Order: sequence, then C-alpha cells, then structure tokens
Amino acid sequence: MNLLVLGASGLLGGQVLRQAQLNGARVTGTYWTTPPQSTGAEWLQLDVRDPGMVRALLAQTRPDVVIDAAYRQDDWATTAEGPANIAKAAGAVGARLVFVSSDAVFSGRGSPYTETAAPDPVTRYGAAKVAAEVAVQELAPSAVVVRTSLIITDTGASAHEQRAASAAAGAGGALFVDDIRCPVHVDDLASALLELAASDRSGVHHVAGPDAVSRYELGRLIAVRDGLDPEKIPRAHRSDLGPAEPLDVRLDCRATLSGLRSRVRGARTFLAAQS
Ligand SMILES: NC(=O)c1ccc[n+]([C@@H]2O[C@H](COP(=O)([O-])OP(=O)(O)OC[C@H]3O[C@@H](n4cnc5c(N)ncnc54)[C@H](OP(=O)(O)O)[C@@H]3O)[C@@H](O)[C@H]2O)c1
Repeated sequence: MNLLVLGASGLLGGQVLRQAQLNGARVTGTYWTTPPQSTGAEWLQLDVRDPGMVRALLAQTRPDVVIDAAYRQDDWATTAEGPANIAKAAGAVGARLVFVSSDAVFSGRGSPYTETAAPDPVTRYGAAKVAAEVAVQELAPSAVVVRTSLIITDTGASAHEQRAASAAAGAGGALFVDDIRCPVHVDDLASALLELAASDRSGVHHVAGPDAVSRYELGRLIAVRDGLDPEKIPRAHRSDLGPAEPLDVRLDCRATLSGLRSRVRGARTFLAAQS
C-alpha cells in the first residue's frame, strides 16, 4: 500500500506512520512547521490551507490511501477548510481517505453518542470539525470519518499527560472532576485507523476507549503510572467556569469496533498496566 499520512509530525500522525512502516507499507508523511527527525519515510512539507499545494502533493505522491491527522485547534482554515482541500485532491487521484475528527462535535448534553447522533458543537473547534466532516462526506462519499477522544501515549508526549504531570508536581493547574471523556491509547487508535483504511467501510465511525473518566481521574491514573503523587493534583469543576465547553462527552464505539481486529483499551486498563 502506498500511504500518505497528513500531520505525520504530530502525535497521532507520527504513530500511524510508524505502525504503517512496521506493517510494510510505503509511507510518505507531511509536516507543516516542524520538520521531523525520523528516517525511513519520505517527508514533504504541506500547508493543508493551500488547495494548490494539496493538489500538487497528491499528484506527486499518488497514494492509495490518505490518512488525515492534520489540524490546528485554534485555526479554522486548517481544521475546517484543509480537509475539504484534501477530499477534493484525494478524489482527483482516486485515493481512499480516512479523516480524523473529534468528540468536540458534540455538546455533551446527549451522552453517550453513537455514530448516528447529530453533531451539536458548542465550541469553534467543534464547529470546525463538523464543517470538515460535512465537506469530506460530500466530496469523498467513500471516505471514513473517525471521531476520537483524548489521545494518550506511554511516554508523556500528549498535552493531557503533560497537564497531569504539571498538576501533580504542584506547578499549577487543577483538573476537572466533571469533564468526562473516553481517552484512547495512541497505539490502539493508530491501529484502528490503519484497519479502517484497509477496509471497505465508509461514513462516520467512533474510535475511543471504553472507560469514561473525568480529566481529574485521568490525571490521577497518569500520575500513578509516572510515579507522581496523585493526591497533589488540585480538583476543579469546569461547570464553575460557565457553559462554554462540553462537560460529559462519551463516544459509544460499539458499532465501529464490532468486526475490527484492533484492540481499543480503556484508560483504566492501559494506564494501570504500567503502574
Ligand atoms: N490530541 C487529542 O487528544 C485529540 C482528541 C480528539 C481528536 N483529536 C484529533 O486527532 C488528530 C490529530 O491530533 P494530534 O493530537 O496528533 O495533533 P498534533 O500533535 O497537534 O499534530 C497536528 C499535526 O497537524 C499539522 N498541521 C498543523 N497545521 C497544519 C497545516 N496548516 N497544514 C498541514 N499540516 C498542519 C502539524 O504539523 P507541524 O507540527 O509540523 O506544524 C502536525 O503534524 C486531529 O484531527 C485532532 O482533531 C485529537
């Protein structure tokens, strides 16, 4: 398989690229601002906001499959318009597209959410992801749209692990006890993305862990794994800050995961396994 991973200099894209290489795929990865150090893959620079650049890169690489993990949370053009540019360009070269979306498409008022639940974002980021999902499905009807939740590693590389470490070290920041998500291990998510890429599925899919935990519980699990004192983590309520962010967003992933070989562990399992 000739695979193109967009956003491969990032947390998830990097793991997708590494796993695909191990599986024997020919892989090209893209970065925007951060040229990667790793070798073994071809690296190209790409700004997904530039339709001409996206078209030219896909015409040059002629991938069988594109996995799109590129985004910037605070940039509408990257998060919402980039995927539309990618879907058009993928269609032009006959490439299959797997687009990574987010549980941020939901308000949190209707958990748990199945793949058929109607998105109702309450943040600009969530709205950008919904716009991207709509464009991808319109322009590339055979594409797979994969919504996921907080992505966690074994190495402390994610923002969530860094936040927990900082809170447990007394360096500031409290973690919310009323902000519920379904964290997923980056290895499990990457594996599921590659399996979906190789499948004949299309449409919206949910890939997240089976354990619904608060950011506070997640922080405690991370602290224990990392040998830090979980009792030092300050607690807070997101609801005290007002209604701007979704509180309880649980993805029901049963329909997606039925029939997939990839294991998708819950946070209590993949974090406890190392503590
Ligand atoms: N992390 C989470 O907890 C989480 C939760 C739910 C959903 N997701 C979704 O998972 C996906 C991957 O997230 P992540 O945490 O792996 O992200 P990340 O580590 O921040 O990586 C983002 C990637 O996008 C690239 N990028 C940024 N702006 C770009 C642009 N204009 N053109 C091309 N590439 C650009 C970055 O390249 P440079 O670094 O080289 O600039 C980087 O490779 C995203 O779709 C995100 O919405 C993540």
